Amino acid sequence: MKDTLHKASMEAGKIIKEYFETKFQIESKDVISNLVTEVDKKSEAIIIGIIRSEFPEHSILSEEIGSLDADSDVKWIIDPIDGTINYAHSIPLCCVSIGVEKKGEIILGVVYNPLSGEYFFAEKGKGAFLNDKKISVSQEDNFGKSLLVTGFPYDTSNNPHKPVTVFAEFVNKDIPVRRLGSAALDLCWTACGRFDGFWEYNLNPWDVAAGYLIMTEAGGLVTDFANEKYSVYKKEILATNGLIHNDMLNVIQKVKQ
Ligand code: IPD
Ligand code: CA
Ligand code: CA
Repeated sequence: MKDTLHKASMEAGKIIKEYFETKFQIESKDVISNLVTEVDKKSEAIIIGIIRSEFPEHSILSEEIGSLDADSDVKWIIDPIDGTINYAHSIPLCCVSIGVEKKGEIILGVVYNPLSGEYFFAEKGKGAFLNDKKISVSQEDNFGKSLLVTGFPYDTSNNPHKPVTVFAEFVNKDIPVRRLGSAALDLCWTACGRFDGFWEYNLNPWDVAAGYLIMTEAGGLVTDFANEKYSVYKKEILATNGLIHNDMLNVIQKVKQ
């Protein structure tokens, strides 16, 4: 499965790179700002074609096409382009993200940004890697010195979790917060120690499946906002180096009350 995962992400990466900064079709989905491009669809078709040719018996969950359920222990969870808004605006912060779930556990994950050449990979129990170099989360334990990253859901204005209020709480503590526009990259950049913590509401399994494994294999801690065990099917994610986890939880929970 590792070879197939590698091949599918590299082939999707080629398509993403080939069309970058060219003219392609862009449509809105449920919300006007939630985009899908012709390239998302091409990338998805290539990935699914490769998986299907090698493992026709496996299930697939992919953002644009949905669920292709089969009677199998294995499910491939695919985001053909994570960071589509960036991509549509020629901003080179996007990636293909593919996670492999077996018996309910994510066992393999790749997040590949073909525009930067960064290839993040993890296998359950075997560590996380960036272009073959082992990565680990940061050692920052001083919350005041940490650098955080987040993303906003497409329905931010009406979201009951008040994502902007939480964001403001962090910023009002003079803690720098970035917003890259790709949850998969947010997780990987936290996994390799660039960020100390990441939180977001309303993500989907394809945004996080690979990045979650990469985070945990890099020594990170991932929970929901109640500090309960995380699952990629949950909507809330808090992913940190473990050392500032409680500090971040306190801020998020304070706003929720
Ligand atoms: C989006 C990105 C973004 C996050 C959104 C996601 P997409 O995925 O991961 O960072 O804030 O919630 O939907 O639409 O570019 O695949
Ligand atoms: Ca996504
Ligand atoms: Ca996507």
